[in-house]
Formats: sequence, C-alpha cells, structure tokens
Amino acid sequence: MNLVMIGTGYVGLTTGVGFATLGHKVACVDIDASKIARLDLGEVPFYEPGLQEALKQVQSSGNIMFTTDLESVIGQADIIVLAVGTPPKSTGEADLSALFAASQQIGFCLDHEAVIVVKSTVPVGTNRKVLAHIRKTMQEKNREELSGLINIVSVPEFLREGTALQDFLVSDRIVIGADDAIAASTIDRLHEGIKAVRLVTTIESAELIKYAANAFLATKISFINEMANLADRVGADVRDIAQGIGLDHRIGPHFLNAGIGYGGSCFPKDVSALEQLSGHNGYSFKLLSAVIEVNNRQRDSFFKRLVDELGDVKGRRIAVWGLAFKPDTDDVRESAAIEIAQRLCAQGAEIAAYDPKAMENAKRVLSDTVIFAPTAMDAASGADALVVLTQWPEFKEVSFKTLRDQMVEPHIFDGRNYLADLHLEQLGFIYRGVGLGRYDAS
Ligand code: UDX
Repeated sequence: MNLVMIGTGYVGLTTGVGFATLGHKVACVDIDASKIARLDLGEVPFYEPGLQEALKQVQSSGNIMFTTDLESVIGQADIIVLAVGTPPKSTGEADLSALFAASQQIGFCLDHEAVIVVKSTVPVGTNRKVLAHIRKTMQEKNREELSGLINIVSVPEFLREGTALQDFLVSDRIVIGADDAIAASTIDRLHEGIKAVRLVTTIESAELIKYAANAFLATKISFINEMANLADRVGADVRDIAQGIGLDHRIGPHFLNAGIGYGGSCFPKDVSALEQLSGHNGYSFKLLSAVIEVNNRQRDSFFKRLVDELGDVKGRRIAVWGLAFKPDTDDVRESAAIEIAQRLCAQGAEIAAYDPKAMENAKRVLSDTVIFAPTAMDAASGADALVVLTQWPEFKEVSFKTLRDQMVEPHIFDGRNYLADLHLEQLGFIYRGVGLGRYDAS
C-alpha cells in the first residue's frame, strides 16, 4: 500500500520505517526541513536501538522517502497517518494545534478517497474533530462529494522508546477504532505481517484505550512506589514484594520496579490528560490524582533522603549517573533524573554527570555549571556522593573497587535499585536504594 506518514518524531519515524519494512511504500512528511534533510541522508535524529540500520535498509529498497511537501506525495496515498506531537499545555491538556494544522493541510490537498489514521495520542473526540477539519477544508475547495468518502481510523501506538521497532513488529495488540467496516479492514491489511491480536472498537473506545493503558501502567508504578515507602518503614524489601505479587498471574511481574517514579514523553502527559478529560466530563477520577501525587512525591522523598544523609549539599561534588528518562534512549523529556539534577544544582551542589546517550539533550536543559564527564568513572572521581538515576547496563560493569578509591566519600544513592544486588556495602560504600528496608524515614 502507499502510505503518507505526517510527523517524523519517535512514533512517526519508527512506524514509518516499520511499515516500509513490511513492504509498503512510505512517504514521511515533516515541517522541519533540517530533520527531513538528515533523514534523507539516512541519519536518525535521536537514539533508538536498531532504527538507524532499519532506515538504511528501507532506503536502499526504495520503500521510504522524506519530504516537507505533503502535496507532492499525497496524490498516491491510500492511507494517511497522523503522528504529530500532542505535547501537554500548562493546564495538563493535550495541545492539538499541530494535529489540526496537519488535518487542514490534508483537506487542502487531498483529491481522492483515502483512509486517515490517527496515531498521535489524543483525547476522546479528537479523531472526529480531525475528520471534520479535513472535510470542511475539502468542502471549501469544492470537493464536497469526495469529502464524504474520507474515513478516519484511530490506531493508537503502544511503542516503548528503546524497543520501539521491536514493539512495532511484535506487539500484544493492534487496536483499530473505526465507524466504517471497510476502512477498518483496510487498516487490518496494512498491518499484515505483524504478530498481534487485532481489536476492532469504536473510535472513542480506541482513543480511551491508549490513555487507559498508560494510566494503568503508571498506577502500577505508583502502587509499588507506595509499597517501597512502606517497606522502608517496616524493614521489608520492595523487590521481594514485587516478585511475590508479580508471580500472581493476575498481577504480572511488569512495571513493578520501585524508584524515583515514571517520566518520559508519555506517562506524565497521558495521566494528566486523562485526569483533565475526566474533569471536563464531570467526573473526578480520584485514583489518577493520587497516581500523579505519588509520582511527584517519589522525587521529593528521594531528594530529601539525599539531603538528610549528606547534610547541606552546597559546594559538594555530586556525581549523577543517568539523565535519560529510562535506559536505551537519549530522551530527557519529563526525566526524573533531570529534575533531581536540577534540584541539586539549585541547592548549590557541583554536579558531574554522565549518560551514555542523553548528554547532548541534557545539556540543553541543565544549568551550564554542570560538568558532563566522558565516562561514568570520570563523573564519580572526586565526588562526595554518587546518585544513580537511570539503569544503563554499563553502570554495572564499572570497577566498584576503583570507584571506591576515586570517590572522596563513599555514598551511593540509587534511585532505581539498579545496583542493589552488587552488595556494595561490602566494598565500603554507604548504599541507599528505594524501599530496600534499610532507611530510617522517621
Ligand atoms: C510508554 C508505554 O509503555 C508505551 O506503551 C506507550 O505507548 C508510550 O509510553 P515509554 O514512555 O517509552 O513507553 O516508557 P516505559 O518503558 O513505559 O517507561 C515509562 C517510565 O516509567 C520510565 O520513566 C520508567 O523508568 C518508569 N518505570 C517503568 C518505572 O519507574 N518502573 C517500572 O517498573 C517501569
């Protein structure tokens, strides 16, 4: 099939490359000319494992092309996918301006029957608004009759950064929200070759499933973080609790890692947007407010613990390992690591940070007093404390014996419990995790 993908961010690009890998012809469109120029040269503008290689492959097979000019490629399109950003406004609601601008542009140049797919995460009712925008613009261009033949399908994405390409090719489910059975079956065929259960729903249900999935996962994280706080007070280990409940197949073992809470471009935004959506519909979704509160408190209490133990951090050298919101990405959006580093800076600490992939992005948001070290060991050398904020595998490969000699004081605060199994106390470190039952929170 011929596809136009509008938006070349994490979702649009991975999905575009994914469909091209399945053999479809994909034209990726973005208003950012410098991004399109880089993509045209085969350069992925962010770090996503395997994506660079996959892009090269589909470029050499001729299945993908990049342009800023929608009009030049829309003529061949059977399907037009919207994957533009819907960032949060200051109120927590999703900002849909880019989505509506792209819809209008589609309406302006679409001159044949096509199925419109919305991949962007959007509040309930948005797909219909997108369709209305497209139809209205088409009518203004005297394409009234054709406008009635345009259908919209909500196909939410569930791609995790770091494993996005893998998630595209093998996923738990593909949700297809449509009014029109033919449009739904076209979208089903588009996904041929992907191993996943198909779930066909109404448009509204599909829109809500996406928010519900992320909100539920965020709830699991906040739940285990609450258990971690309790575990610290009663001398239990939250990792045992996670394992003990996760073995119950009704609960499952995933998303039960306690720590400094969730971040990233999806969870914080989607949980807030769902809370807003509920409020606007006259319903107070109490659980979500608590999930958000617990997540924020998690960063506060980690920071408090650090200051309680170290005393005044002003003028003290603190090493920060990890800045990305999770490993295997260079994304620092809503990263708990960034927030903690910023708080340390604000209190006058001298920060030496290291992240294998996210330092360039972190430089744009952190104070220019932060030192960015070339290795994890360099960051920790001469430090009064080490703070571990992202679970990058290379952190476990460091020689902790050497590290102990390099650090001025042996404090390690692990916001992810990532090094908890290494028995660092035996090497002379004062090691603190989250919910390991070894912290007197009184
Ligand atoms: C998420 C969803 O998983 C994906 O399906 C969706 O469509 C996009 O949003 P992503 O943001 O890439 O994916 O990251 P994810 O792996 O879900 O982690 C989100 C955050 O939760 C990270 O900050 C991570 O560190 C944190 N997390 C995750 C925990 O704190 N504990 C856990 O047990 C799991």
